[in-house]
Amino acid sequence: MKTPTRAPKTPSASPAALPPEVRPGQSVELLKQLHILTRDGKLNQDSRRKLKQVYHLFQFIEKLLLELPASEAGPTLADHGAGKSYLGFIVYDLFFKALGQGTIYGIETRSELVESSKALAQRLLFERMQFLNLSVAESAQSSALPPQIDVVTALHACDTATDDAIAFGLLKKAKYMVLVPCCQAELARALNHNKALNLQRTPLAELWRHPLHTREVGSQLTNVLRCLYLESQGYQVTVTELVGWEHSMKNELILAKYTGQKKRASGERLLALLKEFGIDGLAFLRYPSTVQLN
Ligand SMILES: C[S@@+](CC[C@H](N)C(=O)[O-])C[C@H]1O[C@@H](n2cnc3c(N)ncnc32)[C@H](O)[C@@H]1O
Repeated sequence: MKTPTRAPKTPSASPAALPPEVRPGQSVELLKQLHILTRDGKLNQDSRRKLKQVYHLFQFIEKLLLELPASEAGPTLADHGAGKSYLGFIVYDLFFKALGQGTIYGIETRSELVESSKALAQRLLFERMQFLNLSVAESAQSSALPPQIDVVTALHACDTATDDAIAFGLLKKAKYMVLVPCCQAELARALNHNKALNLQRTPLAELWRHPLHTREVGSQLTNVLRCLYLESQGYQVTVTELVGWEHSMKNELILAKYTGQKKRASGERLLALLKEFGIDGLAFLRYPSTVQLN
């Protein structure tokens, strides 16, 4: 992957007038829109911390982008559950802008957020950012996206949107997936469904007898299953913490890198866990490729 060198076209940071944390070439207008810089270009204590966190997340993604093999059209990144698209905007500003090629797609169901992101991208001349008013699941079938996407991100995409993002990444043969899961209700619902039966069947069900524990175990199990699924589909998975991320208590960062080595044992473990927890019904819905593998 070639490293970004091209001079930025948008109004950008002049190092003399701005705090040292603002990088040369970075869009001042964008930082103001993200409420990182005040209107007069200053950083307060809170926004200094916020900027540090934004850089922290960016550094994970930048590393992956730099590892991509060079391609004619440049890298592609799809950000699912984009919200106000601050992740996409920061990655574009710090990487894609100077690179002069590649496209970022923001997928979001709330049309007003899609419209405001489109307007901001237009104002900043970020012409290789596209915003699609689609659900994650719909976007997998949309002709507005190319058949292959290099990097898939889903930052706090609600509930099963993370699973849909994984399905999207598998379909689009993503080389990397960067997932920070959010609230997870589907599995907790499934655990609740046969709770009494499972309490008779196995002492393990004590783990989710109380509603608070159902939610916590459901959330933990959801992410464990996602990791196993990714491994079974040829991804090497790292789970780490998105340190100091102030937006949410949900700080688990799942990084998946495609190696092509499908781990059959992970698929088997996944199915065994579903059985053990009495939620085999989810196998076809959420982990269809594992079912085919076994
Ligand atoms: C908690 S916000 C996170 C926004 C952004 N990624 C961030 O970290 O700031 C979740 C966003 O995902 C969107 N969303 C939820 N489910 C979705 C789905 N199935 N498809 C697309 N967007 C979805 C919501 O509308 C919301 O804007």
